[in-house]
Amino acid sequence: MTGELVVVLAGGLSHEREVSLRSGRRAAQSLRDVGLEVLELDVSSSLLEKLEELGKPVVVPLLHGGAGEDGAIRQALELIDVPYVGSTSTSARVAFDKAIATPRVAGGGWATPTQVALPDDMFRELGAPTLVKALARHLGFPMMVKPARSGSALGCAKVERIEDLPAAMVQAYAYGGVAVVERFITGIEVAVPVIDTGSGPVALPAVEIRPDSGVYDYAARYTAGATRFLAPAELDDEVAERCAQLAIGAHQILGLRDLSRTDMIVDADGTPMFLEANVAPGQTETSTMPLSMEAAGMDLGHVLAELILLARQRGAEA
Ligand SMILES: Nc1ncnc2c1ncn2[C@@H]1O[C@H](COP(=O)(O)OP(=O)(O)O)[C@@H](O)[C@H]1O
Ligand SMILES: [Mg+2]
Repeated sequence: MTGELVVVLAGGLSHEREVSLRSGRRAAQSLRDVGLEVLELDVSSSLLEKLEELGKPVVVPLLHGGAGEDGAIRQALELIDVPYVGSTSTSARVAFDKAIATPRVAGGGWATPTQVALPDDMFRELGAPTLVKALARHLGFPMMVKPARSGSALGCAKVERIEDLPAAMVQAYAYGGVAVVERFITGIEVAVPVIDTGSGPVALPAVEIRPDSGVYDYAARYTAGATRFLAPAELDDEVAERCAQLAIGAHQILGLRDLSRTDMIVDADGTPMFLEANVAPGQTETSTMPLSMEAAGMDLGHVLAELILLARQRGAEA
């Protein structure tokens, strides 16, 4: 497949621009290492025109957050018939929204934290004090407040006391109109990538996440050395298998394609609880997916090259 150009799409205008650029750089290099010709492009008003000029090469979208993962950019690629690696715009839109994805995964019989989704206008109009009290009764403390549509733990907060809940909600609303409030799950946090190179989704080794600070927030994610990752995770075989099943189950129920990464917490009973599924998993030096691949003896460049081939076939069939 040498000779055919591949475009790695990274950057964008979300809060996760820097992370995306690092993911893109690393993925592009891994593809060059396996002999592909790669062009790294950012989102701009000339992007679609440029892709048409280039003869509609396969795109590897590595945009995180906002338009990158909510299906918008994928929709644009579909409109101009540019083949790309990863989930369709429709399923990306579902997976990206925690207020939609979590109930859907729960509906499939998988364990998820009890979740309440609250739009900001309702929070204001129905009177925050009453809602805050009702939330406290329904979920108990601690709870986790998150923007429904965001990533990299931006706008997320663990809330221990009722008086801290309104501020946490307001902070989450800074990232979008809907916040989800969940029961806080104490346990072992793991991330499980899923790859499907054509013969069905396969879970890669779970990666255990141990932030030094105890919280896997933005700094813990992207500061080298701030978090210890164990790949594979130190889990009993049976628990590891449950994690793999949940990741595959989420991938399927959300209709995801090619690759995904499901974040989960294994609770005290050894049950993995679904937190979210990502359609554009990070590929930076401190991201869990590359670590998992390494533990599995897989090479990012080779895996992406296989997925690119599949995307090209889909493009040709369409
Ligand atoms: N219900 C929960 N209980 C405990 N911790 C949570 C819960 N939900 C999220 N977290 C923590 O917050 C982090 C970010 O949440 P996540 O749902 O993965 O959103 P995103 O990564 O898109 O910001 C997780 O990595 C985890 O450490
Ligand atoms: Mg996450």
